[in-house]
Amino acid sequence: MISPSPPPSSVTDIETYLATWKPQPIEQAQSFPAQMYTSETVYRLEQERIFNKAWLYAGHISQLEQPGSYFTLTLAEQPLVIVMDAEGQLRGFFNVCPHRAGPVAIAQGTCTRLTCQYHAWTFDLHGELKAVPHMESAQNFNWSHYALKPIQVDTWGPFIFVNLDPNGEPLAAQLGKLPDLFQRYNFSKLAKVHSEDYYVDVNWKLYVENSSESYHVAMVHPSLDLFRNIHHIELETQHHSYLEYFPFLPNNESHYLTPGLFITGLNDRELNGSSVALVYPNFVLVVCPNFVLARMIDPQGLSKTHIRFDWLVPDTDAARSPANLTSVVGLYDKVVNEDLQMLATVQQGMRSLSYLPGRLSPLLEVGTHRFQEIIMEYLR
Ligand code: FES
Ligand SMILES: [Fe+2]
Repeated sequence: MISPSPPPSSVTDIETYLATWKPQPIEQAQSFPAQMYTSETVYRLEQERIFNKAWLYAGHISQLEQPGSYFTLTLAEQPLVIVMDAEGQLRGFFNVCPHRAGPVAIAQGTCTRLTCQYHAWTFDLHGELKAVPHMESAQNFNWSHYALKPIQVDTWGPFIFVNLDPNGEPLAAQLGKLPDLFQRYNFSKLAKVHSEDYYVDVNWKLYVENSSESYHVAMVHPSLDLFRNIHHIELETQHHSYLEYFPFLPNNESHYLTPGLFITGLNDRELNGSSVALVYPNFVLVVCPNFVLARMIDPQGLSKTHIRFDWLVPDTDAARSPANLTSVVGLYDKVVNEDLQMLATVQQGMRSLSYLPGRLSPLLEVGTHRFQEIIMEYLR
């Protein structure tokens, strides 16, 4: 006989919660307590144990067009620069000068060397120090001690990932079988046609969790008809990822744009549904027959998150035409704003005196459950 579960109780000491947390099947699990979204201690631990350890989505290969191209970004508040060296290899560094922590690159562009914008120490594209003005009389100055600190860079198709941990597991281990599953979409052949940045006063995990479930769709996105097919959604969790497949409703014209706008080479299942894949912690991929949307989630503070959307379509004039882009990008902008508005309210709710850990839908919150397990695997 199943014993009745205890009522939810408040968590007064987050350190004890972290130390005593135990995995539970979703049918029994409670969701995170509010402190997981409001505690500076948790946020600092996440920076140290998740964002400094895992592979993180950083950008699209079109941001590095030729040898010498670079772009800068921050991920969980770490300033980084990604560059294509003269041999065409991608390299990444902390964008922090070993002299006095100035930036060695600003925004994006093309260069032959990286020159610090503070006092002009200069590095080659392998990160080695090559020029130091006015340091002739410095004694025992060992140039090799002042190279840029490298980070790992790898790609899945056109998607660039970084890992700040030099000993982190290979990217392939984190991606699991996703590259095989999405092989026919041939992401590298698609054109990146648009990017959009969103900034929201929400803890980053609320956004990832929102992207991991369709439970909210009927309420938050009434214009999406997806919910009517909810019992046909297929959900799957893996070591580090979560996958949802939504078959389109039969005869749903809204998803069937002109066949000439579709990605070529897809099978029937792919032509008749869309997928959402999350590679935890910060990458969300929305895959449809006519477009792909890559999302980067970047925590910029305990309750500040930057989300970047990169849009990819088949590299044809028709797919790239403003008429086509306006329809797909416009639909999603509305949906995103609906999510972000709701999440800002949820973040406020997390600060309420009243909120206790909730329960998860075993039908529709499998992704949230897996994500919370992964968070705890990293943090403990
Ligand atoms: S901080 Fe970079 S040269 Fe001084
Ligand atoms: Fe949503």
